[in-house]
Amino acid sequence: MGNVISWIQKTVLSIFRPSHPLNTIAIISGILGDQLPPASTDYANAKYQYATSSYGEEHHMNPALIVIPKNKDDIVKTLQYARSQKVAVAIRTGGHQYSGASSTAAPNIQIDLKKTFQGPDDRRIFQRGGETFVHTSVSFGLGEFNDYLGQNGLFVPHGQCTNVHLGGHVQSGGYGQLGRSFGLFSDHVVSVEIVDYQGNIREVTRANDADMFFGILGGSPGNFAVLTHFTIKVHRDQDYKGSRGLKSLFFYNPRTLERLLDILVEMSDNDDFPGNYDYCVSVLSSSNKLLDWFTEGGLDEKMREQHPEIYGDDGAPFWPRVIVVYAQWVPFSPSDVPDMGWFDRIREGSIFDVPPEIKPMSQLTKQWIFTNIREFDNPYVKSTHLTDSRTLGKDGWAAWMTKRIDAVVAPEANRVWLSAQLQCFGGEHSKFTTNADNGTSFNWRDSSLCVTADAFYGPGHKQTALDWHTINEQEGIGPNGKFCKTDRRVHWGSFGDYDLNKVWDVYYDNQEKYERLVKIRAKADPDGLFTPNTFSVARQ
Ligand SMILES: Cc1cc2nc3c(=O)[nH]c(=O)nc-3n(C[C@H](O)[C@H](O)[C@H](O)COP(=O)(O)OP(=O)(O)OC[C@H]3O[C@@H](n4cnc5c(N)ncnc54)[C@H](O)[C@@H]3O)c2cc1C
Ligand SMILES: *[C@@H]1O[C@H](CO)[C@@H](O)[C@H](O)[C@H]1NC(C)=O
Repeated sequence: MGNVISWIQKTVLSIFRPSHPLNTIAIISGILGDQLPPASTDYANAKYQYATSSYGEEHHMNPALIVIPKNKDDIVKTLQYARSQKVAVAIRTGGHQYSGASSTAAPNIQIDLKKTFQGPDDRRIFQRGGETFVHTSVSFGLGEFNDYLGQNGLFVPHGQCTNVHLGGHVQSGGYGQLGRSFGLFSDHVVSVEIVDYQGNIREVTRANDADMFFGILGGSPGNFAVLTHFTIKVHRDQDYKGSRGLKSLFFYNPRTLERLLDILVEMSDNDDFPGNYDYCVSVLSSSNKLLDWFTEGGLDEKMREQHPEIYGDDGAPFWPRVIVVYAQWVPFSPSDVPDMGWFDRIREGSIFDVPPEIKPMSQLTKQWIFTNIREFDNPYVKSTHLTDSRTLGKDGWAAWMTKRIDAVVAPEANRVWLSAQLQCFGGEHSKFTTNADNGTSFNWRDSSLCVTADAFYGPGHKQTALDWHTINEQEGIGPNGKFCKTDRRVHWGSFGDYDLNKVWDVYYDNQEKYERLVKIRAKADPDGLFTPNTFSVARQ
């Protein structure tokens, strides 16, 4: 083992040799899974994060070793080893954290759980007290998890990117199309199975450890323990018969955008808007992978027929700038009736629709999933904010937002591509609001609207994206901000300062809450084992 320490020291000094003998042997003894040091052939692929393109250098995503555990015992051994060496462990499942927080710098280690728990015992559905639950491992992607539920006539709210994995998602909330009607994914969690800093395997519930439950679910993903499995309450299609969803496509046009945002504002400013409705407007620059947004409904055939100009000589489509709208209605009681006029207003002028016919909820949740891994194959300047404003109408937000979006989408050759989502979350009847007391620590539950505006950029055009982003922040956020008086961010859509403790006030409701999490962290991570980077809650 002595040579392990010297190897890590060498790595710190970046003087390892590609032909290092440790390349071919297990580095932590007794581990059954793979271990990848930097010199191994698979290391470069294995260390890839969604955020590598944007922050690979800045955020130091170069672990001294990547451990791919085969089982819980491998996790325990890795943690014990790391503790003995006084290095930290970054925990990764899907690698989709937008700032790269599931990676770390040498001499720290990364544990990668994306394949660890996918056996037949890692997932099952069971009933208890008339309710349905799923016990699952963290190692499944959202698309796969959604399919599994769907095959069983079940659903639960969750995010919309197929390759986001449950490991991070369960700790970062799970914001998605069902936000108002059903709340967050994590609002449904009843127990979490962990390996703690001492290597103890235990189950955490709200009843047996309210602090740890609170910390893990929303406090700061990866900073409390290694999650292996969890149990989540799910909904049955049969209890929501009559649900409908509309998916509409529009060629981009600022007038259309402003009209659709006006509908959004109507909903967002109205605290009494019924909880049955969910609505999200997306804007995508040209050359996006639109067929990954519309896997159903025959978009490709229809467009080949009606808009052959989109297809090149090679038959591959080059999609122009578009707006995509998702709108959903779900009954909570047999007497609930949808306002079909609401769907009709939204659809006006669309070039393609998946119409709002009655469909089981599990089919709708599948319909809302984006099936590609990345929106654009470029680095990005990210931005996700919530607002508690109920005066977006009065403040002229829709016109301002349209102008800001147009500023980046209209210039054809600026080498900056937008992926934006604007979605309602609020109101007295919204489950995002009313689930606030489920024992989790997710923030900003009194918010009305969430806006993501990610600017992907080509080589040499980062500054264009940054300049656009900076104006949005300056005009949108602040005492006279068009969008919100305060800066409200979320872990799942993090950006900007990577030192969480420095900017805690934009991620957490208030100081009291943050200080509670600091105390919980001090107990859960006394040695800094789960502190692999600066995007971590402080421990004192
Ligand atoms: C293209 C894209 C689309 C997205 N869409 C949505 C969306 O619609 N809704 C939404 O809510 N979010 C969305 N997200 C954000 C995503 O849900 C979160 O970043 C989520 O935490 C990612 O989980 P992961 O396991 O894939 O990523 P990772 O990067 O592996 O993990 C994310 C965080 O969780 C920690 N973690 C991961 N696994 C474990 C574990 N087993 N034990 C302990 N800690 C762990 C990591 O240390 C890291 O801090 C999107 C992200 C991307 C890149
Ligand atoms: C979350 O809170 C809501 C509202 O109080 C409740 O109906 C639901 O059962 C809770 N979920 C869990 C998993 O505790």
